[in-house]
Amino acid sequence: MAAFESGNGGADELRRLLDDSQRIVAFTGAGISTESGIPDFRSPGGIWSRMEPITFQKFVVSEEARLEDWRRRFEMNRVYGEAQPNIAHVALAHLVAEGRSAGVVTQNIDGLHVRGGLAAESLVELHGNATYAHCISCRRRYELDAMEAQIEAEKRAPRCEECGGFVKSAIVSFGEAMPEAEMRRALDLAESCDLMLVLGSSLQVQPAAGIPVVARRAGARLAILNRESTHLDGFANLALQGEIGAILAGVFPQLAGELH
Ligand code: APR
Repeated sequence: MAAFESGNGGADELRRLLDDSQRIVAFTGAGISTESGIPDFRSPGGIWSRMEPITFQKFVVSEEARLEDWRRRFEMNRVYGEAQPNIAHVALAHLVAEGRSAGVVTQNIDGLHVRGGLAAESLVELHGNATYAHCISCRRRYELDAMEAQIEAEKRAPRCEECGGFVKSAIVSFGEAMPEAEMRRALDLAESCDLMLVLGSSLQVQPAAGIPVVARRAGARLAILNRESTHLDGFANLALQGEIGAILAGVFPQLAGELH
């Protein structure tokens, strides 16, 4: 049965769960980066309250949609570049470095986990990575700066030099196939962890939101830390509602000191 807590009261509960676990896997969403200045998607004022997602299908059929997708990518990457990792990114990196965590599965594309010290090989990016682009047909890699200069010069969406396919940011768009290798790694981590710690996700997007369910069903304990309740709270051993930064400062006071 879940223990529902709110605010800092939950820090002790969360610390106990972490101390009792040897193979922690974190599952993160956009809520882990809002305190770094990056808007999430479904909070009031979030990204989907200001614009419609551009689906993969729309990107393929519409030049206008492709140019708008690129505009958004360049704009968001400037936001990502100005953002700094926060205590949540650093704490998860420490848990992996100390051998207490097997890795982090993220839905995020902002690059803050690695910038917060997490080894890239310990990170599974389910929704891709916004720091580079690739051809959607042959997967050849392209750098964003070159794409931005090319669009500025040619005023049209770039195509692959190799095969003529469309070049697109390496994030997974709605309607685009999930990356198989990353899904496999995420499932392996979920099936072998003893605690899955969900941080900052509304758990509304499948198949990603199924990963914590796989962990719980495989026998792991499930802890959810989020500002709002989620549909998995009743399925969790611990569901904490509150600000991630404030609660983790209570769990990792030494880190809170270092970061301020
Ligand atoms: N502390 C705690 N919770 C927070 C904080 C915070 N500082 N900031 C935001 N949150 C919570 C919000 O209340 C919300 O429930 O984080 C959650 C973020 O949910 P979403 O905005 O839906 O983001 P996410 O779950 O990552 O979305 C999944 O949807 O649009 C796609 O591909 C996109 O990866 C994304 C996926």
